[in-house]
Amino acid sequence: MSGSDWYRASAPGKFVILGEHAVVYGKPAIVLAVDLRMTIAVRGSRFNTINGERIDFRRQPHLRYLTRNVTSGLEFETKSQIPVGSGLGSSAALSAALALALSEKENRHMTENDLVEEAYEAELYAQGIGSPMDASACVHGGGIAVNLPEASDRHLWTVTRGERTWSVSDVDVPDMTFVIGNTGIKAPTGPLVSKVKRFLDRSSFAVDIVDDIEQVTLQGNDAIARGDVEQLGRLMTEDHKLLSILGVSSNELNKLVNASMPYSYGAKLTGAGGGGCMVALTDQPEKVCEAIRSRGGTPYVVRTGVPGAMLHP
Ligand code: PMV
Repeated sequence: MSGSDWYRASAPGKFVILGEHAVVYGKPAIVLAVDLRMTIAVRGSRFNTINGERIDFRRQPHLRYLTRNVTSGLEFETKSQIPVGSGLGSSAALSAALALALSEKENRHMTENDLVEEAYEAELYAQGIGSPMDASACVHGGGIAVNLPEASDRHLWTVTRGERTWSVSDVDVPDMTFVIGNTGIKAPTGPLVSKVKRFLDRSSFAVDIVDDIEQVTLQGNDAIARGDVEQLGRLMTEDHKLLSILGVSSNELNKLVNASMPYSYGAKLTGAGGGGCMVALTDQPEKVCEAIRSRGGTPYVVRTGVPGAMLHP
């Protein structure tokens, strides 16, 4: 990725403290960006290549969408610390970083709001359904709240699609320690979001679960504001149970959540589920890491409060 004809940008991954899946239906969510980044470089070229291989756009829908107006060939190089298909927003980080790098290449200024719209459209193009939560977190960095009314004095942008509206605000990053555990099982977001939608379409019980997730998220927001780790942990564990009822947990996720519990205030799956990652709130990160490792997972003690999408020289 060296040389002056390259345009480079990066964006962080993220994890959801509370509210995934329910946020697709306009419910609140709280998300933190983490110090695992996706970096992408782009330059003009004869052929379309990514990391030295010809691009198969059928397998790269995000790239296909984001380059829809480009008529010349493009060469991409990516470097990522974010595991793919693991609930940490790898595709939103790719979309945010790529949209920014391309706008720089084409000398088009894009605001954070423009980048969110572009990255969210790429996500919708690739997976058909979803919220602008990941795109917002990866573009903005730090911490974001979606549809939390009292956060409106730090409003960033509102995204509307059809009858749904997501009002996104900046929130303080809580001074708390989170450990992420990766099951190593890849689970693409689209099918899991569709599975929850099918459940909601045919069952008022599922609608009640989504309403319960909303209540847990609202209470979690208050707990974060008070710095009440015990209450926040309890709510995270409660959220994990609700997400399990929605059918998006897995044996491997449950194993890592259960293994972390003795050393945590609470733990839950994070992101789409089905595999991918869980997150524990703890003041014993080493013990949680050990517990996750002992069950075959890969732990990351994540740093939060990191910058969003940015250009690199
Ligand atoms: O697994 P990820 O990182 O793509 O997160 C998905 C979050 C969902 O709430 C399940 C879907 C969405 O678009 O909000």
